[in-house]
Amino acid sequence: MFSIPFYQYEIKNWQEKKQKLLEICSTIDFKNQDIGNRKLNSYNADNLYTDYRSGNHNLYRDDVISTLKDELHNFKKDAKLDFMRVGEVWFQQYYKTQFHQPHNHGNCGYSSVTYIKFNKDKHVPTIFIAPFTDPRGDIINFVPKVDEGHIIFFPSMITHYVQPNKSNDIRIILSFNVNLCN
Ligand SMILES: [Fe+2]
Repeated sequence: MFSIPFYQYEIKNWQEKKQKLLEICSTIDFKNQDIGNRKLNSYNADNLYTDYRSGNHNLYRDDVISTLKDELHNFKKDAKLDFMRVGEVWFQQYYKTQFHQPHNHGNCGYSSVTYIKFNKDKHVPTIFIAPFTDPRGDIINFVPKVDEGHIIFFPSMITHYVQPNKSNDIRIILSFNVNLCN
């Protein structure tokens, strides 16, 4: 009766693009995100490092778009979009124990995750929660089979989360929103 669009791509020339994305990520000062400075008793209990809505993305959005232009082109074609515009862009780092609680990105269109540093034997993918339950009322989860160098696109309004990183290896992702309105 219903289906939810989801797109996944293996990024071509990944090692080269990984270096470019890590270079951009290295310019971000995540220190102001230090756990000691965050109010963990607020409604937002996330303890990951992010530059979401820091204003940084104005400095690197164009570089990200040009690095991922082939993947953005394929997504636009496959999703049959007449118009799309990359909006907010941000990086996230998950050290051991860090997680991201269930959230969504509103109804702006699509959102995306690129797995920049990701060990599929040690890290967990993003977990999605369907906006409806099964006939018994149980929650339906979707866990994509992702690996480092993969990029996914999903409707921004779909709730998703990331379980705590159990590994000593850092998990790094890039995320952005794709707006569909002028
Ligand atoms: Fe998210």
